[in-house]
Amino acid sequence: MYLVYITFPEVFHHLPFWRTDGVILTALLHVGPVEFLYYWLHRALHHHFLYSRYHSHHHSSIVTQPITSVIHPFAEIVAYFVIFLIPISATIFTRTTSMASLFGYILYIDFMNNLGHCNFEFFPKNLFSLFPLFKYLCYTPSFHSLHHTKFRTNYCLFMPIYDYIYNTMDESSDDTYEISLKRPKDLPDVVHLTHLTTLDSIYHLPYGFSSLASNPQTSNWYLRLMWPFTFVIKIILAWIHGRTFISERNTFEKLNLQSWVVPRFTNQYFLKWQSTRLNKIIGEAILEANSSGVKVLSLGLLNQREELNAYGELYIQKFPKLKVKIVDGSSLAAAIVVNSIPKGTSQVLLRGNFNNVFFAIAKALCEANVQVAMLHQDEFTKLQLRLNTKARESSALSTIASSKIWLVGDGWNEDEQMKALKGSLFIPFSQFPPKKMRKDCFYHYTPSMRAPPSIKNMHSCENWLPRRAMSAGRIAGIVHALEGWNVHECGSTTFCLHQIWDATIRHGFQTLHTPS
Ligand SMILES: *[C@@H]1O[C@H](CO)[C@@H](O)[C@H](O)[C@H]1NC(C)=O
Repeated sequence: MYLVYITFPEVFHHLPFWRTDGVILTALLHVGPVEFLYYWLHRALHHHFLYSRYHSHHHSSIVTQPITSVIHPFAEIVAYFVIFLIPISATIFTRTTSMASLFGYILYIDFMNNLGHCNFEFFPKNLFSLFPLFKYLCYTPSFHSLHHTKFRTNYCLFMPIYDYIYNTMDESSDDTYEISLKRPKDLPDVVHLTHLTTLDSIYHLPYGFSSLASNPQTSNWYLRLMWPFTFVIKIILAWIHGRTFISERNTFEKLNLQSWVVPRFTNQYFLKWQSTRLNKIIGEAILEANSSGVKVLSLGLLNQREELNAYGELYIQKFPKLKVKIVDGSSLAAAIVVNSIPKGTSQVLLRGNFNNVFFAIAKALCEANVQVAMLHQDEFTKLQLRLNTKARESSALSTIASSKIWLVGDGWNEDEQMKALKGSLFIPFSQFPPKKMRKDCFYHYTPSMRAPPSIKNMHSCENWLPRRAMSAGRIAGIVHALEGWNVHECGSTTFCLHQIWDATIRHGFQTLHTPS
């Protein structure tokens, strides 16, 4: 329209902005001839002869989308244009055309056409009770959707009045409208609380670009072009948005699963002065989950960072009456790592900060008679103090050269891997994958498993994980709820690795294959 306007400036130059007589004429001609002619044309199009040749094309869309509104064969489009030209040419002949009547009318047609096919009901109910006549003058998305499902009712263009006059009204129109307005309450049973990682990660959310969300997150050069826009979003998130938002909804067996995102980025979790604010957001999310009857809330990525809240311990102490169970996923992460070690391995090298997962892995390996090797004397002594006597005999001080299986956690000096043997296998037990990787070594994903096929709506990738893979923390929450374990599993509490591993396998989660 704008193009037409600038192509023929001399035509539009003399056009007044508003002429009441022209606008009234357009409106009357629309309610009268346009709606009337369209109604009968439409009924004719539904006659077998024309329907099979023309109109069935438009009706191949049962579940309509806004774009459906313009999907018609050419001859039909010409016919519609001729009808719509009636009010426009009438104002031209009577010299009452104005910008408002011309462009306003075209906008009205496009808007109403898209509205009718948008397949989402949003007209508030009190609009129809305040203006009872409105029902006859304006259709609703649910009204027109009935035409696309039942084919022989609700023929009107935008005004149902002719359907009422000629008795082609669908009797279920009013009920369908009311049912569409009532949205089912989808209260979650399990919530996974995650956060944004890099700046670009906002585009990888299911709300971002679907094509990006469907692939593991990598850095894309072209997203740099978006940086000015990204920064604006970041500032908005930082200053205005102090609450979690829902990024994904899944169902599994009888459970409703949701992922909630703390609108903060990884680097903000390492800033000390952000701690209070972060704990406030996470604490509020926990209380919200508690009051809406969520059974289990799992703390993903850095939302359980030791320096921030000691694996969630802070919240259990702060809110002693929590009904929702908090899960940090440490036990399952350790179980996944232990079960990823190739069968027959006699020694593994354990690297990284001493934390829950570290000790859980060390203990489990010693019990399974796999020697746990450390690189430095002080670390070795510290580990021995934590292990029981039987396990102690199974740990050893070693050198880089002697182990081909490396279990690596947070705070590990990634340069050490340069000295590792060719073909070594690195199994991370950290939240984030190593930044550097050697081409001649093998690397596992961060602790994660493949989701069972019956988990619905898993179309986007969780961070850097492949499609349909879930992080240990997210799975731990789901398994915890399925098993109905009525305890928190966070802070210093770790579960028996066998128990949680067996439960996870029983519910259909599968091990991921190593990327080579
Ligand atoms: C959590 O929810 C339960 C039951 O709905 C309620 O009794 C309890 O006070 C809540 N806890 C907190 C800390 O709000």
